[in-house]
Amino acid sequence: MEHYLIHGGNRLCGNVVVQGAKNSALPILAATLLCRSTVELHNCPRLSDVKVSCDILRSLGCKVTQEDDIVTVDPHDTVNCQIPEAMMRAMRSSIIFLGALLARAGSCTICLPGGCDLGARPIDLHLSALRQMGMRVRETHGRLCCDLPDRLHGAKIVLQFPSVGATENVLLAAVCADGETELVGAAQEPEIVDLASFLSACGGKIYGAGENTIRIVGVPRLQGALYTIIPDRIAAATYLCAGAMTGGDIQLRCVVPQNLSAVLPLLEEAGCTLKVKRNSILLRAPRRLKSFGTVRTMPYPGFPTDAQAIFMALASLCNGTTIFVENIFENRFRHVSELCRMGANMKVVGRAAVVQGVPCLSGTHVEAMDLRGGAALMLAGLAAQGDTVLTEISHILRGYEAPDQVIRSLGGDIRLIM
Ligand code: EPZ
Repeated sequence: MEHYLIHGGNRLCGNVVVQGAKNSALPILAATLLCRSTVELHNCPRLSDVKVSCDILRSLGCKVTQEDDIVTVDPHDTVNCQIPEAMMRAMRSSIIFLGALLARAGSCTICLPGGCDLGARPIDLHLSALRQMGMRVRETHGRLCCDLPDRLHGAKIVLQFPSVGATENVLLAAVCADGETELVGAAQEPEIVDLASFLSACGGKIYGAGENTIRIVGVPRLQGALYTIIPDRIAAATYLCAGAMTGGDIQLRCVVPQNLSAVLPLLEEAGCTLKVKRNSILLRAPRRLKSFGTVRTMPYPGFPTDAQAIFMALASLCNGTTIFVENIFENRFRHVSELCRMGANMKVVGRAAVVQGVPCLSGTHVEAMDLRGGAALMLAGLAAQGDTVLTEISHILRGYEAPDQVIRSLGGDIRLIM
């Protein structure tokens, strides 16, 4: 089974060009179903989740090619409306195809995307919103058969929680629907703004993306476009933490600092020196890291739940006590037990995790349980004394483009062992 062999202790120093955002690429790939001519996506990260999305598009009849970071989608022959079950299950976020498929094909049969390591991952907010726009759903044998007795129509939709996926499904269903949609309580993540920018580039009329209320005026159809995806803010945070944890000196290029507005102050509180420019961030680590208080994960612009695990790895080496409260997912502390096996001093109490910093971590055999927890263990191995064997790395490759290559380019000792 392929795994990483990490020899810890090297300072990470150098430049990183941040990959394109996974959580933009996935909904934007789904959105290409709505376009009547070719779409060319630049800065599309080479990830397994992106590959699954491209395979889903092919299974629906699209012609898809990927060359380096450019994905080209020719959707004009989209015919099928059933996503193969194996593909639905391969990636939780495949639910994001529901809105686009309904809008394009008028019906869609999907299997429940299933939970994942983070918790139940319900889709009630998605289904309730799309029902208000005219979708009919029948559940048979674990599959959802969705169709439209009439066309999709605009509605005033209020989300009980600013769900990223539900917001994206509403945008994709509303952009070519009859009439106007007002979405109140929308998610405000940068990836929502990126999706709205892509749809606008294709001819969509979307106003207020990134704010609490988004207004969408339906248009008859979308054309293709050439579009560049934003940098991945979580990958950026990950490599900054890698530098901080190894006493290093990291320069991020092609990054959007304002998308890290909840993350950068914590790195400074931990003692790092940051130099922030328009699209670069320079981080210099202190000799000894300091604890950084209480971190509560919240919807954007609050502290991102996707950065919780990597900041817990950082906190494990910070002098003092740091507390994490995970408010978004009910099961997102699976990395704690593995970090403790490396010598971290952490305890989970309900939705909170209390971290007492230790002077150093020790390398050992650990297993990635999910994408961001796996990344946290990779960072811990780079900072630890001795060797770490990190298994189940397929989780990490869902969201990070060749992380071992990036880390080796910074002087880290990490090797992929087949
Ligand atoms: C997106 O997941 C991201 N994934 C996640 O990133 C991220 O953690 C999450 O947003 C929160 O920011 C992608 O964009 C592909 P949600 P999503 O709907 O859309 C509950 C990563 O590591 N909820 O905002 O699934 C849900 O259970 C991944 O890159 C309902 O109750 O997240 C959760 O507690 C992990 N009913 C909360 O809302 C629903 O119908 C947030 O979920 C939908 C969601």
